[in-house]
Amino acid sequence: MISKRAQAVSPSETLAISAKAKELTRQGESVVSLSAGEPDFETPQHICEAAIKAINDGFHGYTMNTGTPELRQSISDKLQRDNQLNYDPSQIVCTNGAKQALGFSMLAMVDEGDEVIIPTPYWVSYPQMVNVAGGTPVTVRTSFENNYRMTPEQLEDAITENTKAIMLCSPSNPTGTCYSADELKALADVLADHPQVNIISDEIYEYIVFEDEHVSILNVAPELKERTVLINGFSKGFAMTGWRLGYLAAPKPFADAVAKIQSQETSAPSSISQKAGEAAYRGDLNAVENMRNSFKKRRDYIVDALSSIDGLKCFKPSGAFYVFPDISHYLGTTSPNGDTIESSTDLCMYLIEEHGLAAVPGDAFGEPNGMRLSYASSMDDLQEAIKRLKTGLQDLA
Ligand SMILES: Cc1ncc(COP(=O)(O)O)c(C=O)c1O
Repeated sequence: MISKRAQAVSPSETLAISAKAKELTRQGESVVSLSAGEPDFETPQHICEAAIKAINDGFHGYTMNTGTPELRQSISDKLQRDNQLNYDPSQIVCTNGAKQALGFSMLAMVDEGDEVIIPTPYWVSYPQMVNVAGGTPVTVRTSFENNYRMTPEQLEDAITENTKAIMLCSPSNPTGTCYSADELKALADVLADHPQVNIISDEIYEYIVFEDEHVSILNVAPELKERTVLINGFSKGFAMTGWRLGYLAAPKPFADAVAKIQSQETSAPSSISQKAGEAAYRGDLNAVENMRNSFKKRRDYIVDALSSIDGLKCFKPSGAFYVFPDISHYLGTTSPNGDTIESSTDLCMYLIEEHGLAAVPGDAFGEPNGMRLSYASSMDDLQEAIKRLKTGLQDLA
């Protein structure tokens, strides 16, 4: 009964840890979780009010398949205001989360045999989306020493005549790393010699950058616009994960192709969420800034705390709300009950089972030497998590 396509998809590797965390919590154990991929804030009030108004005004029907003209205009204005990018609303497709914009983009772009380059560590869904579309994910392992950024040489080496696209994610989930303008330009220079390679630029963490301004590859290489799909959404910057609202901006023929798929698969996102999204982009960004400041304080705390643990290596990421320390020092060690820690998955299983700390193993993101800790948690939780992590790692011999 099950198609080859469905068989080619792996279930989320993070499930085992979160299932364990849930089970322990149910048993009354104390669990601290740094495994969340979402802000721990509530959606700003003015955005909620716009949604409530939409409900009370009877804005309950289907909207245009690609999103309301008003929302797409507000996205177009935002892309101009924040990113200095010029997109007509007709080039924008609003989706049920950025996840759907990415998945439908793969379906609209990738044919059987096409390769899609994915720098590792990657967001868990990228390779699976390529698989669903019938393509071949080509992962490129980046190094801790280079803050997990792909070099131009690595990109050049990975490109073949079958390469259809490259996935870029800056700021990155899971590492929080951001590419600088110069680094993006160097990648763009490589892409200039390979006109068949399209670019999927996932900028969903755009509003969570701490030192410099967010930079898109299109800011440094506007000539790539005709083969770039810009992905963004409201989940992370506005704490709106449950509202399921994202979008893509792309050359019109590509936006039309995605819109066709969307029209047959899901139709537009929720009408209420679209009104909320419009308020998010039309309103001021004070709440976004407050959340960013709060994330920055927590980042500074957690990076300092991790750096003080012997054996862990951790660079200070400049965006998103994750740290991704190198845990390789602990691979091959033995836990007090005699189990060998052979992988990052073993390490995370040990930490949750013996110390009630939930983190996501680097294995889930294609990087065996890493572990993702989300600092979208209260300072109290972060302090407790660090205490547990220190004890847990000290107990390994
Ligand atoms: C890198 C990245 N892209 C896209 C998404 C999808 O976000 P959403 O579908 O909530 O808009 C996420 C969510 O975790 C993410 O981390």
